[in-house]
Amino acid sequence: MRIDVVTIFPAFFDVLEVSLLGRARDAGILDVRVHDLRDFTHDRHRTVDDTPYGGGAGMVMKPEPWGQALDAIAADATEPLRFVFPSPAGAVFTQAAARSWAASGEHLVFGCGRYEGIDERVFSYAATLGEVSLTSIGDYVLNGGEVAAMAMIEAVGRLIPGVVGNPESLIEESHEDGLLEYPSFTKPAAWRGYDVPDVLLSGHHGRVADWRREQQIERTRARRPDLLPD
Ligand code: ADE
Repeated sequence: MRIDVVTIFPAFFDVLEVSLLGRARDAGILDVRVHDLRDFTHDRHRTVDDTPYGGGAGMVMKPEPWGQALDAIAADATEPLRFVFPSPAGAVFTQAAARSWAASGEHLVFGCGRYEGIDERVFSYAATLGEVSLTSIGDYVLNGGEVAAMAMIEAVGRLIPGVVGNPESLIEESHEDGLLEYPSFTKPAAWRGYDVPDVLLSGHHGRVADWRREQQIERTRARRPDLLPD
C-alpha cells in the first residue's frame, strides 16, 4: 500500500522506521513517503501560512504550496487517491474506516495542517484529484495533524496483509465486533495476591468463550455504553 504524508514537520514520521510498520516498509508491503510542505514554496522564507481573511486569531495555511504538493503526488499515483486531512472538525475515525481504507486499494495521502488550519479551497481542489476525508481522531484538540495522521497510518497499516505476523490477533480485539476486548492473562496463575480467573485454567473451551463474551459486554457497558445498541 502506498501512503504519502505532507507536513511541515517530516521528523514526526521518523518513528515509522521502527516496530511492525518499519518492518513492513523494509519488506515492501508499505511504501510510505513523507514530503516537506516547505519544499513546495518559492519564497526566501519558505512561507506556508498567512493571516485569515475576515480577521481573527492565528494563521491559515496558504493554498499554493498545498496545491503543488498534491499535484506532485497525484502526478505519479498509479492507484485511486484518498486525501485524508486530519482535523478536529472532521468526522471521527473508527476501526470501520481503518478497515475500509486498508481494503480499498487506494493510495492514501495525509495532509497535515498546523495553525488554524488549511485554506478551505485546498479541500475542494483535492476533491478534483480523488476522495477527500476530513477526519478527527477524537474530541480534543492537538497542535496539528501529524500525531493524528500517525495514529491513522498505524491503524490502517496493521490491517494490510503481512504487516501483523499472526492475522488471528486482528480478529479478537477491541472494536472488531463492536465490543471492547476481553481481559487477557498469562503465567503465573497467582501474582502478588491476584489470581487468574478459574475459568481460564479449566481447559473448557466453551466456558472460556462464554466468559470472554460476558466480559466483553460487561466492559463495554461500563466503559463505552455508547457502543451498545439501545
Ligand atoms: N488536529 C488537531 N486536533 C485534531 C484531532 N483531534 N484529530 C485530528 N486532527 C487534529
